[in-house]
Amino acid sequence: MNQNARRYLITAGPTHEPIDAVRYIGNRSSGRLGVALADAARERGHHVTLLLGPTHLLPSRADVHLRRFRTTADLERLLLAELPGADVLIMAAAVADYRPASTQLDAKIKRLEGPLTITLESTPDLLAACAARRAPGQTIVGFALEPRERLLASAQSKITRKSLDAIVANPLETMDAPDIEAFFIRADGTSDHTRGPIAKETFAPWLLDHIERLHAGRA
Ligand code: CTP
Repeated sequence: MNQNARRYLITAGPTHEPIDAVRYIGNRSSGRLGVALADAARERGHHVTLLLGPTHLLPSRADVHLRRFRTTADLERLLLAELPGADVLIMAAAVADYRPASTQLDAKIKRLEGPLTITLESTPDLLAACAARRAPGQTIVGFALEPRERLLASAQSKITRKSLDAIVANPLETMDAPDIEAFFIRADGTSDHTRGPIAKETFAPWLLDHIERLHAGRA
């Protein structure tokens, strides 16, 4: 029994927001980093629940508790159920910012003459909602995918806007790539950098070291 074992709740992968019975709006997230984080955290003896979106990747460890989502609304329900039992939330999922305002799940939209307009509505910010209802002692870590030139400034403003304990900031080209270059930025303004791109599987233990230390320091 690991005395330092904590309950980690990790989200990973894209969301798919249905347009009709067969089409959706998604993004290119593979979930690779979140899955690697879940495996690495379990490897260290933490209890791990992984909320995983529509991707072909799976954790390699069978003792990671896996729950699947497809849409932002599915993920919202799972987070509401799982957050109270977590010590640390790592929000690596690439959650949609917009979804179709209305969907026809039982039919396929027919080709028409002329353009088709799909109205999108904004989705709730799940990370900010989790941070707003965090229990004392819970640590909340978000991700920020930003253009390189405004990476640090945008990430820092996201920490404040969403009331996070830390954020992992990556340049846009990280999505769907095997490598990652990242800053780990804490709410107190201190940060660490990977010093160049490293494989996502190598990055997972690097990031976990920083998150474990941050959580221990807040306890
Ligand atoms: N996120 C979330 N709910 C959303 C959108 C994003 O919880 N509806 C989370 C992501 O999981 C990530 C963090 O918020 O941890 C930042 O996501 P990002 O898309 O970079 O930020 P946004 O708040 O959507 O801001 P921006 O307009 O800069 O993209």
